[in-house]
Amino acid sequence: MAKIIDGKATAASLREELKMQVHRDVSSGMRSPVLAVVLVGNDPASVSYVTGKHKACDEVGIVSRDMHLEASTDEAELLRLVDELNRDAGVDGILVQLPLPPHINEDRVVLSIAPEKDVDGFHPVSLGKLMIGMAGFLPCTPNGIVELMVRNSITLEGKHVCIVGRSNIVGKPLANLLLAKSPRGNATVTVCHSRSGDLSRYTREADILIAAVGKPQVITAEMIKPGAVVIDVGVNRVDDSSKKRGYRLVGDVDFEGACAVASMITPVPGGVGPMTIAMLMHNTVTSWKRCR
Ligand code: GUN
Repeated sequence: MAKIIDGKATAASLREELKMQVHRDVSSGMRSPVLAVVLVGNDPASVSYVTGKHKACDEVGIVSRDMHLEASTDEAELLRLVDELNRDAGVDGILVQLPLPPHINEDRVVLSIAPEKDVDGFHPVSLGKLMIGMAGFLPCTPNGIVELMVRNSITLEGKHVCIVGRSNIVGKPLANLLLAKSPRGNATVTVCHSRSGDLSRYTREADILIAAVGKPQVITAEMIKPGAVVIDVGVNRVDDSSKKRGYRLVGDVDFEGACAVASMITPVPGGVGPMTIAMLMHNTVTSWKRCR
């Protein structure tokens, strides 16, 4: 049976380390770090993610500015708010929760965030720096996955990593991170997607299989090389009338089946998700330290 990689515990120790750093500097007179969290509308999944981000900020000692705007907010208004936050020297990080309502152009909003405050790591400047190995904010989910593996003694150097999914927020930046000339990289990376054809051909060759598809339980036991490490990035809501809220969360991997084949696996929830938020805290603290 596979060993379960405890993302919740790993993220908690990372938050604890950040909390100690913040506490030390704030005790010696520095102002607290500040993260502006912008949410437009009331998409239930986004509300839940944003709540988790505020909670993590409280725990670490980051002041989170809750900027909850009506779903009808227009793009110009949102761009004005971002511009104000860019110019506010008391704000270290700006996070605009995605997806935005369809009448707002997401690309224009992401481009409007000052790269120095882009703690999500979604700005093209941050992504370009990642691609060429320059220091910059790293996107939270990909960097959280690498951090989770490093802290759980999974070496990447020389391993064949297969990523299923080519999104701009997970698959593509993660491939770049894993390719980096660094002890946190140096892997050989295959990226598969909806047009790859027979996925098993690639996934069965992987020492580390990372599923970031966004579809429930599409990665099954037969697709996994015996002894591989499986990282499940998916968070999918599936109807479940036995639950009070009417749904349960499942990953992109058939967890029960995969447990019989893999050597190590992340659960959903409690795997990658908590690491994403911990890395957002890390980026915000990094941005704040630069204002010294
Ligand atoms: N929507 C889903 N994940 C994320 C994230 O990490 N950051 C933001 N801003 N929006 C998201």
